Amino acid sequence: MNENAPHGAEKLYEVWDEHWSEEQKLTFVGRIFVPIRMRALQDAIDFLQHQKGIKSALDTGCGWGHLLGLFHAAKLDYMGIDVSLHSIAACKRKGFNAKVCKVEEETRQYDLVASEGMLEHFLDFEPFARHLMRLSTRYVLIMQPNHDTFLGRLLFSVTYLVRGDKIVWEYNYRMRDFIDCFDRHGFSVIRNQPLIMDTSRLLLFERRAGTQD
Ligand SMILES: C[S@@+](CC[C@H](N)C(=O)[O-])C[C@H]1O[C@@H](n2cnc3c(N)ncnc32)[C@H](O)[C@@H]1O
Repeated sequence: MNENAPHGAEKLYEVWDEHWSEEQKLTFVGRIFVPIRMRALQDAIDFLQHQKGIKSALDTGCGWGHLLGLFHAAKLDYMGIDVSLHSIAACKRKGFNAKVCKVEEETRQYDLVASEGMLEHFLDFEPFARHLMRLSTRYVLIMQPNHDTFLGRLLFSVTYLVRGDKIVWEYNYRMRDFIDCFDRHGFSVIRNQPLIMDTSRLLLFERRAGTQD
């Protein structure tokens, strides 16, 4: 384990709350990357809402509320959850539906459960991926850094060199790890979209018929 990695989920949650205690200004790289990611998310929401008829959505680990803004504008019945009080206070200031809650403790199910960059911070992501699946009646959408490409690895190494302890440690999962895990639990990948020269991917999963608990 890397010495900068928070040990255990509870320690990680403290690190996140501290991270969100100051407003996160976008870095130069962030100003280029965030709009690209937002366009991909918007496109996926349009597809799910207008072609698949989803009505409700949950953002797990909603952070500063990027994705909640898209759910809100789409007039979905939505909620954002996060372990960080600071993150939820910021989302509420923006007028979004949001509450402090761990994904492990949420009980309501939604047509779409999304998570933009959360799973890679856990030493073992599978239990948390299973919570995303438990809460979804139909679709799970995740957006993950891709450590499987040279540029993906380079981007992480450079970010770590420049920002050091300011970044929350992430593990180098491959896209295959996520796809296999969801597949084992009854979710097939229906969109596997490379973003920003494949330094990250949007993965959209659909629940296979007859796999609801
Ligand atoms: C990389 S940030 C992503 C934030 C946001 N989705 C974005 O892309 O800007 C991961 C978020 O997940 C939250 N988080 C971590 N573990 C969580 C858990 N078990 N339940 C709910 N939220 C969690 C953290 O507090 C943090 O806000």
